Amino acid sequence: MSENQPRRIVVGVSGGIAAYKACHLVRDLKEAGDDVRVVPTPSALNFVGAATFEALSGHPVSTTVFDAVDEVQHVRVGQEADAVVIAPATADVMARLVAGRADDLLTATVLVATCPVIVVPAMHTEMWWNPATQANVATLRERGVIVLEPAHGRLTGKDTGPGRLPEPDQIAELVRAVLDGADLTPDWRGRKVLITAGGTQENLDPVRFLGNRSSGRQGFALAEIAAHRGAEVTIVAGATDDLPTPSGARIHRVTSAREMAGVVEKRAPEQDVIIMAAAVADFRPVSEAGAKMKKGQDDAALMTVELVENPDILATTVEQRRQGAVPVGTTIVGFAAETGDADTSALEFAQAKLRRKGCDLLMANEVGEGKVFGQARNQGWLLGADGSVEEVPDGSKHVVAARILAGVDKLRN
Ligand code: CTP
Repeated sequence: MSENQPRRIVVGVSGGIAAYKACHLVRDLKEAGDDVRVVPTPSALNFVGAATFEALSGHPVSTTVFDAVDEVQHVRVGQEADAVVIAPATADVMARLVAGRADDLLTATVLVATCPVIVVPAMHTEMWWNPATQANVATLRERGVIVLEPAHGRLTGKDTGPGRLPEPDQIAELVRAVLDGADLTPDWRGRKVLITAGGTQENLDPVRFLGNRSSGRQGFALAEIAAHRGAEVTIVAGATDDLPTPSGARIHRVTSAREMAGVVEKRAPEQDVIIMAAAVADFRPVSEAGAKMKKGQDDAALMTVELVENPDILATTVEQRRQGAVPVGTTIVGFAAETGDADTSALEFAQAKLRRKGCDLLMANEVGEGKVFGQARNQGWLLGADGSVEEVPDGSKHVVAARILAGVDKLRN
């Protein structure tokens, strides 16, 4: 397959109310240039009509193995696919996949497919936690099927809990990451992971603050990949773009560096892996005015802002580990966004930073000229405390996240 050739993605849709979100998923995948074919189960068509899926995908839609028999459709769709994603996947369709049934076109397609199969469950919390469903999920995972974690939130009725379909753009991003080689093996089960993300804001007064351009995308992508690999993920997030909460992760919102430091210090002792992707302000105003400062009245304070240093959360966590407050087996990963100068390259600055901070791994990248901040892609180097340098090629932030977690795997194994 040449690099620019559209990839063939089969979107399976089963019969749950979240079937309407599959329309957005199809559109998102199509807009990125992929060739999308929708295979609904017969009951999915109670929620969304075949005409909608045909119009969005540009392909005919059938649910049964008895359509287009002359083209051997029941085998061909699965054989030709580069990925199959079932979103939403009901408890029923997962049970049928486990049993190896082929009683409609979707299950027949999965039975034939040798490409990655990604199952995105959506159902009521009780159905999700039912031992039958959990056993089916475990079986599918054992067989190499990627079963994503459901999102937590409002379900069809008034109830909330795990069982929501993740947002279509989150699913599309993960499907593309899998196609680009991201490892979603669910072998991080039982691992606790803490991730800092976004930018801190340091208040000057109730309306003004010192902040930065961090979008939180890289931290959220790390959280998503870790959660889908089975880890128990906690995100400590400062200001971020309006991003959906990664499925399966818990999030603590903070504003300032000191607040972030407080949460991290409390949570660090129970973690197996700590990844500091946040852009933490190094300094904060020496004092915060209780009332809005006014021009003409508070000019001196507004024109010259006196700053004091913030705690270095990464260096403090490394120091806590040295002193035994954080287990010695905890892996600590830092980030560095660098620019080079006439004498020193961005990579050399990053290597010096790794030594200074004392973390185990450092994901370094070069910033400036529209690179990295707020962008959907990233690239750089993954540096090890042992002096190793692994180039991380340009990829989506999800692909880069998967590379970083693979780096953690290498270190821990
Ligand atoms: N970091 C942190 N606490 C701080 C500053 C940074 O935990 N007060 C973490 C970041 O989350 C990142 C790493 O340290 O993982 C490097 O951040 P960076 O801002 O590049 O480091 P600084 O030490 O501030 O270096 P510089 O002087 O280059 O800004």
